[in-house]
Amino acid sequence: MLEILLDHSYLVCPCDTGMGTAVVKQGKLLCGSWVYKRGSFMRKITVLIMGISVMAMTFQKGTSVAAGNEKTYVLQEGKSAHSRLKRQSDIYRPHLMQAFKTAAAIKGLSGLRIVDFGCGTSEIYADVMSFIGRSGNYIGTDRSADQISFAREKYPTAEYIVGDESNPQVLQSISKADIVYMRLVVMHQKQPAAFVKKIYEAMKPGAILIMQEVEDTPEQKEVMLKQYPNIDGVDKLYDYKKTLGPRVSVDYGIARYLKNIFAKLEPINLTENAEEVMLSMATDKPLLEEAMHEIESKCVPQGILSQEEVDAWLETIAKLPTGEDNFWSWGKYHTIIGQKPELS
Ligand SMILES: C[S@@+](CC[C@H](N)C(=O)[O-])C[C@H]1O[C@@H](n2cnc3c(N)ncnc32)[C@H](O)[C@@H]1O
Repeated sequence: MLEILLDHSYLVCPCDTGMGTAVVKQGKLLCGSWVYKRGSFMRKITVLIMGISVMAMTFQKGTSVAAGNEKTYVLQEGKSAHSRLKRQSDIYRPHLMQAFKTAAAIKGLSGLRIVDFGCGTSEIYADVMSFIGRSGNYIGTDRSADQISFAREKYPTAEYIVGDESNPQVLQSISKADIVYMRLVVMHQKQPAAFVKKIYEAMKPGAILIMQEVEDTPEQKEVMLKQYPNIDGVDKLYDYKKTLGPRVSVDYGIARYLKNIFAKLEPINLTENAEEVMLSMATDKPLLEEAMHEIESKCVPQGILSQEEVDAWLETIAKLPTGEDNFWSWGKYHTIIGQKPELS
């Protein structure tokens, strides 16, 4: 009888606590499972263990730590992102300095505590330290562990936290900050208004929020088309963010309405400054190429962009001249600053 059973390939065994199944071939157990009865204590324990395992597997899979607001990040992280972020940071440096000067007019900066939320590879560290001095504190936070580990290598004495806006440690550091700074971060949020609200609500009364984001405008596209009338594909290249954005839920136009989002939270001293950023192609072409190759390496394997789409953009970039008089538009760069009112 036992032999007959063991030669059966599939067994079902009901009993008091539940039901077991086993796949058996020529006396060998290939696989098996046990389903506990609904509501039984063992079933609850099993569900709990499975839940914890799934969470652990998800955590291990990527280096980004996030909840709810997570999505594909279209560019490289850590060491591979550093060169681009550094170049980009150099471009936006005058705007960073101006933003901190505006904040300084609201409250002196020396000795302040600054949280650089979504700090990437911490490119602003040295400039921020020049404002806050040694008695100040710089805390960089990013949901990408790769970004943070590279930033830590560069600035071992700075404080860093890996996590997003749902991380209690990040929220606690925001609650102690005098200034929360976010550059090119809001554009990456699935729900920008809810995201900004969450950051603002975590801030202490009197703290300042600085956000810097870019916006491509149709007017600038016209300027590009006029400058390069004989180069095929300039219009498509200029619009690459329009093509990519909706596919990865990145809002490349966020800067246009970010001030309105912020205004709804009723900050005081709310200001906005928006400026077109035009760069000489001598500087800009390598940066465009670099960003495009990062996008290619992240988005083509995942099927977000086709190789043909990226190749067409790269071909156009290759054709752009690099004379001192040739330039490329980096869009309109917006700086939005507001302060949480003090408690009365
Ligand atoms: C374009 S990079 C900008 C990095 C840096 N702010 C700079 O300007 O050099 C955007 C960074 O924001 C981080 N980021 C985006 N959304 C985030 C979130 N919700 N929480 C934490 N980090 C986030 C990304 O991991 C990435 O490092």
